[in-house]
Amino acid sequence: MKILVLGATGRTGRLFTRKALEQGHTVTAYVHNPDKARKLLGTHQNLTITPGSLEDAEQLAAASSGQDVMVSILGQKATVREFLHTTFMQERLPLIMETVVGAGVKHCVLMSAYGVGDTVRTASFPMRLVCKVIMRGIFTDRVKADALVAEYQPYISRAHPGRLTDKPGRGEVKVFNMASVERTQGIPTIAREDVANTLLTIAENPRNAGTDFLVTIGGATLRSPQK
Ligand SMILES: NC(=O)c1ccc[n+]([C@@H]2O[C@H](COP(=O)([O-])OP(=O)(O)OC[C@H]3O[C@@H](n4cnc5c(N)ncnc54)[C@H](OP(=O)(O)O)[C@@H]3O)[C@@H](O)[C@H]2O)c1
Repeated sequence: MKILVLGATGRTGRLFTRKALEQGHTVTAYVHNPDKARKLLGTHQNLTITPGSLEDAEQLAAASSGQDVMVSILGQKATVREFLHTTFMQERLPLIMETVVGAGVKHCVLMSAYGVGDTVRTASFPMRLVCKVIMRGIFTDRVKADALVAEYQPYISRAHPGRLTDKPGRGEVKVFNMASVERTQGIPTIAREDVANTLLTIAENPRNAGTDFLVTIGGATLRSPQK
């Protein structure tokens, strides 16, 4: 597949990019810091590092043209200020979606987080506290950004992992359609490596477009099937 990656230099993004190349995909990493990208990602015959700003619709449209799927693993800086209030996603996601979908890409995988929006309803009490207090600023931004791109929903799939770590992946990831989840336990935690691999699995299937996924190594209580 031809994959456009936003956030390829991030801690999850670089693992995703390496895995996608390893699996034989062709990757375009659209980055605002090409030197950093070259240093982190190196060179590969199937990797193109395209310098460009997320605000530059013309450049982003050119990078999007001919891609099968876009994967956004973007994230704002995690400073105290950003935790309190941020508009990072609200400012960028609408133009990204308009441009990428406008260029003909019909599947956009967005890395979100468990606890964002309605997903918090399925969380345990401690996880709800984390979402409503510590993550409030960042998650509010995500909810508002998601609302701004609702019109593109047939094309969007979101991955909702819990707290991320830089430990090696365990490879026992479970992926649930968020709509089927009733409850999770504790504070779900997962390695970035496992999330990166799962993002690739989600991206590889165009039929995943339109679905939100819980990405976890823990269990989840699922809703009983409707009779
Ligand atoms: N931390 C957690 O426990 C947790 C849990 C669930 C979900 N998440 C979400 O998962 C996502 C990925 O997390 P991560 O830790 O892998 O992220 P990260 O290491 O902070 O990477 C963020 C990426 O976004 C890029 N970026 C930031 N500002 C940009 C801008 N203005 N223009 C272009 N690119 C920009 C960064 O590029 P540069 O490095 O070049 O600036 C980097 O590639 C984030 O959205 C995060 O909110 C995090």
